[in-house]
Amino acid sequence: MSFSRASWAVFVVAQLVGCGDPTRESPDPLRPVSGPASPLADVSADLQALLEHGALDGACTGLPPAGSDRQQDRTARLRCGKSMFFYESFGTAGVPKSLVRFLLDNFPQDVGAGFARLGMVPDPYSAQHLPLGMVPTAKLGGKVDALAFTCASCHFAQLPDGRYAVGAPNHRYEYGLQNLLVAVLPSVALQGPAGHAASAVARVQPLLSRIQADAALKNKLVAAVLPLSLAGIKAPVFPAAAEDHYAAWRAGTMDFLIEPLPVNDGVHTVSKIPPLWELPTNAEIAASGMANALLGWTGNTHSLEHFCQSFVVYGGGPVAAWPMEKIAPLWEYVYSLRRPASPAPLDEATVAQGRRVFSERGCSTCHDGPRGSGKRVYAFDEIGSERALQAWLDPAGSGTPCCGAPPSPESAPTHGIKSPRLVGLFSEQRFLHNGSLDSLEQLFCLGSSRPTRTDMPFGDQGHVETCNDLRDDEKRQLIAYLLAN
Ligand code: HEC
Ligand code: HEC
Repeated sequence: MSFSRASWAVFVVAQLVGCGDPTRESPDPLRPVSGPASPLADVSADLQALLEHGALDGACTGLPPAGSDRQQDRTARLRCGKSMFFYESFGTAGVPKSLVRFLLDNFPQDVGAGFARLGMVPDPYSAQHLPLGMVPTAKLGGKVDALAFTCASCHFAQLPDGRYAVGAPNHRYEYGLQNLLVAVLPSVALQGPAGHAASAVARVQPLLSRIQADAALKNKLVAAVLPLSLAGIKAPVFPAAAEDHYAAWRAGTMDFLIEPLPVNDGVHTVSKIPPLWELPTNAEIAASGMANALLGWTGNTHSLEHFCQSFVVYGGGPVAAWPMEKIAPLWEYVYSLRRPASPAPLDEATVAQGRRVFSERGCSTCHDGPRGSGKRVYAFDEIGSERALQAWLDPAGSGTPCCGAPPSPESAPTHGIKSPRLVGLFSEQRFLHNGSLDSLEQLFCLGSSRPTRTDMPFGDQGHVETCNDLRDDEKRQLIAYLLAN
């Protein structure tokens, strides 16, 4: 019989506190999901290998029938799902391509090649030097080329150690600023700032100043806007209040139910992009007693299958063209994503102590489901965290989705907050649902206290479980345990 260092450490601690045989310990709350992982290269320092060396193009043609368990059929379906993850717009509403080109071609020092300075990852296979996560979609007014987002813009990122990982939350992504550059910059540059939010104008000011100082550049902008005017299409315009919101979001955070997206709940909320590793499977949901998969920060979406379909609905895509069986490879692929191995050099004994503290100090009361997620939705009062999301999708509190969102048995407003899965936290730069904190140290009030903001929807209050009543050594052990997973 041999012990790894980790199990040996657990063994020693268990003996010291009189628990006896370590193999009788309760299972690790953050243990990996069972079932086959994706055979594809979804975590790699080599971007081209991760993109299957160009083989994602056309990966959905001639697909073997759904349900076949033969390994090569499953791999083919997953490759198709991966190609959808990176390259499928589902016909969702896009922004004029000419305006995106204007930014990429004229402001590399501000936005970076392929929007790298806005946190996106340039696509090595794009002849047009587009970023991963931005692809052609349905033409505007049937005439003007447009680009829309794919899953990869937000759910694909480079990890702090340089590896790329599918499913990693892109917390460097300046989604708000990118939208202002496309929608507000042209209008202010050509017509002046009247009617625009001062905060939004301030964010685009560096590029605005250059356009104002350079007649040739201004002519290029006029040329980029011209196809829109000729086709009678209005450039995307947000009300000033929405512009102000876009200007305020930190990288990696956003509100979707806002102009110009078709469903707008009229409530300003902020959500951080979550990781997509090891979502709860249907078997786990049934076994754990969860009501459903509790997806989204409010836990309102009951299944990954439905979540993928909602992307088409909320993005204004042609729903009838995307029946569930056609989207199936995408969710099969997302289910196959696994957390990347943690690169953090951690002391195994400390990690083992952290796992013990997690159970002994009540964390598992609420983080008691798959990968440390909760098994139910919590009231904001129970957690104390910022509560703007309480009104999300249903400001009237009617129990059904507002503002044109189709009611569905697979989704219902909860007015609460779920406790998220706790794996892959080492890859994150934002913490709490609204991304108001920057580190686990802040979440645990270690060293300096939290920055402490209480304004809606940006407040960082609440979840005092990680601050009060814990000794500093326990906090460090818990952080080590979380970083190891
Ligand atoms: C523009 C950024 C963006 C794009 C594009 C995007 N997402 Fe998300 N995703 C988010 C944000 C932000 C959330 C959290 C929303 C909330 O709950 O308030 C989220 C939540 C999710 C969740 C819930 C995860 C959980 O643990 O609760 C899933 C699943 C998901 N996205 C899958 C996808 C898929 C699949 C695609 C592509 C079809 C996609 N997303 C496209 C930003 C994005
Ligand atoms: C009363 C239920 C409850 C208890 C007890 C609890 N949590 Fe949480 N936890 C939550 C909820 C709900 C959230 C989401 C809060 C938010 O984002 O506003 C959360 C968020 C977190 C996050 C942030 C995750 C992210 O993606 O930003 C971490 C880390 C965490 N909890 C760890 C712990 C640890 C460690 C303990 C024990 C010391 C603990 N929790 C105790 C319910 C709880």
